[in-house]
Amino acid sequence: MRFTQPAAFSHDIKADVLAVCVSADDPTGVPPDLDKAFGGAISKTLEEEEFRGSPGSILAIRSLGHIPARWILAVGVGDWSASAHRLAGGAASRFARDKGARILAFATPASGTPGEQDGELLRAVVEGVMAGNYRWERYKPQEERTPPLTSVKLLGLHRHRQALKAALAHGRAQELARDLVNESAEVVYPDSLAQIARSLSGERLKITVWNEKKIRDKGMGGISAVGQGSARPPRFVHMKYTPAGKPRARIAIVGKGVTFDAGGLSLKTSSGMQTMRCDMSGAATVLGVMSVLQDISPRVRVDGIFAAAENMLGGYAYKLGDILTMHNGKTVEIHNTDAEGRLLLADSLSYASELGVDYCIDLATLTGASVVALGSHYAALFTKDDEFSKTWITHSQEAGEGLWRLPLEDLYRKKLKADWGEIKNVGGREAGSITGALFLSEFVDGPTWAHFDIAGPAFLDSPENYLVKGGTGAMVRTILRWLESF
Ligand code: BES
Ligand code: MN
Ligand code: ZN
Repeated sequence: MRFTQPAAFSHDIKADVLAVCVSADDPTGVPPDLDKAFGGAISKTLEEEEFRGSPGSILAIRSLGHIPARWILAVGVGDWSASAHRLAGGAASRFARDKGARILAFATPASGTPGEQDGELLRAVVEGVMAGNYRWERYKPQEERTPPLTSVKLLGLHRHRQALKAALAHGRAQELARDLVNESAEVVYPDSLAQIARSLSGERLKITVWNEKKIRDKGMGGISAVGQGSARPPRFVHMKYTPAGKPRARIAIVGKGVTFDAGGLSLKTSSGMQTMRCDMSGAATVLGVMSVLQDISPRVRVDGIFAAAENMLGGYAYKLGDILTMHNGKTVEIHNTDAEGRLLLADSLSYASELGVDYCIDLATLTGASVVALGSHYAALFTKDDEFSKTWITHSQEAGEGLWRLPLEDLYRKKLKADWGEIKNVGGREAGSITGALFLSEFVDGPTWAHFDIAGPAFLDSPENYLVKGGTGAMVRTILRWLESF
């Protein structure tokens, strides 16, 4: 998909869909010349249909030969903010793709002033357009596929090379994460996910992969236990990005890479298992982020880390009552084999702590409880550091991704007390996401840390805004903005 910025608005522009931004405070945001070409029919339709212009809402009008584009699409931009423009761009490209359009022209009068502010508008539109153009059609018959947009013409926005470059990179990163999540677990399994990581290596990005033997030798009892119930052995992946100059910080990004979660012996129900190929979304986010670092060159050293395993119930599967010795020496008593993600993360976080990083974050589809609490629009954020929390909320808002802080309260720590080992791997039904996060905290030693439970937003059961159902690449754009902020 190519983005261009023609010099001026013309309703004769060559495109399949011409999207024009409209808001309730300015219902005549439709360029007057365009409306005139339709004999006033556009503004009249908007009025009669009571189009309010709420962000991302659309009203499509067939142009019937009045202009070269087949469709006029009024898209709502509400308060004209960047985030509203992201929704608008996303809605326009989703519509265009559904109609089989190849060229989308997107016009907004909100050009702003050249500089920061304006770059944000451009970024938001491009991010939205890219996300809205995404489909997962690899296994669909040809006649059900829709071709992607080839060209997007942005009208009205000031040019901003840096902003465009960043948005394209962030969009690509998110697409990779979505592809990996959507792909079936027969294709994405521990070793193949490690191979995908390997394939990203380059001058500034080095990859190390450990097999099941090395994982055991390194004392990673959690990863070994979860992985041993599957015929496909676990992998541990460490990706290192080194910036050109002196790094301004050292950062570890850790992901949960359960390529399929059957629940193990604490077996899930069929319906609970249906979409559990999404359980490597944390690792997919790590891979998406790492895949573009060489292009956007943030001034930080980044260690991308994930353990990949299938949580199955083969003959060697780990069992209830097992007591595992983890990478940091702590012992964990197993009370539910379906609480497997935290075991992979525990070893990964302990490993990351040993690297001596300044910051460590982890991404995981960790608990159904976070889906119950926040639904699919918000990831749950856990950190003890108020400043760090603020940083994340800010970046998530800039990126247009939902994030909500939940308490990381030691009050609940006693729920994890074990009978024979040091801690249990589950803390009961109450506050399930919090006890999950508290469990993880036992394995972080040193860095400022945040845990993101992305069980809700990582995978959608129905379309939301500009995202089709399936993998979303949750948190990819937010994390990239954070890395660029150093
Ligand atoms: N992968 C699941 C969590 C999940 C649920 C992700 C729904 C996405 C959608 C995780 O491994 C799990 O099974 N968690 C258990 C934890 C419990 C046993 C403490 C859960 O949420 O039920
Ligand atoms: Mn599970
Ligand atoms: Zn899981």
